[in-house]
Amino acid sequence: MKKKELKIPLIKDGTVIDHITAGQAVKVLHILGIPEKTLDSIVSVVMNVKSKIGKKDIVKVENRELKPEEVNKIALIAPKATINIIRDYEVAKKYKVDLPEEIVGIVRCPNPNCISNTREPVESRFRVISKDPIRIKCYYCEREPDNIADNII
Ligand code: CTP
Ligand code: ZN
Repeated sequence: MKKKELKIPLIKDGTVIDHITAGQAVKVLHILGIPEKTLDSIVSVVMNVKSKIGKKDIVKVENRELKPEEVNKIALIAPKATINIIRDYEVAKKYKVDLPEEIVGIVRCPNPNCISNTREPVESRFRVISKDPIRIKCYYCEREPDNIADNII
């Protein structure tokens, strides 16, 4: 018996985050605050699907149009991601994620003595000093994490 190819269903309305760096989907969900912020949405995640250039992950959030300010943060770990806003099954908008100038509360500073790592209620804060390759520098102590994906809070 021939096995049927598994297809990921299209969605009617919502947001499709496509071309996520393979393996980063779970961190993307975490950065987006899913499921906490999307309790009423069906969310589907596919990992390691074949694409034109190697493998990728995809996240589909139904019935929610995520705003650029919310999704741009994921450029930290998925710089090639594209955001597709779906309305009545059609792609109504498509854009690439674009790293914001500052990253607040997402990445842990690698310096244990940094004020953002002490008991002070100070959120981590990084300035983006280069987008390609991505380089960020702590606003407080100037340290640069060498592996951003491994330092997601
Ligand atoms: N998609 C979906 N539901 C829809 C329409 C599109 O889930 N009703 C998904 C597609 O499966 C794809 C993404 O949204 O993962 C973008 O759709 P589309 O622009 O049609 O695909 P491509 O042309 O392949 O996109 P790109 O050029 O960005 O790779
Ligand atoms: Zn620091």
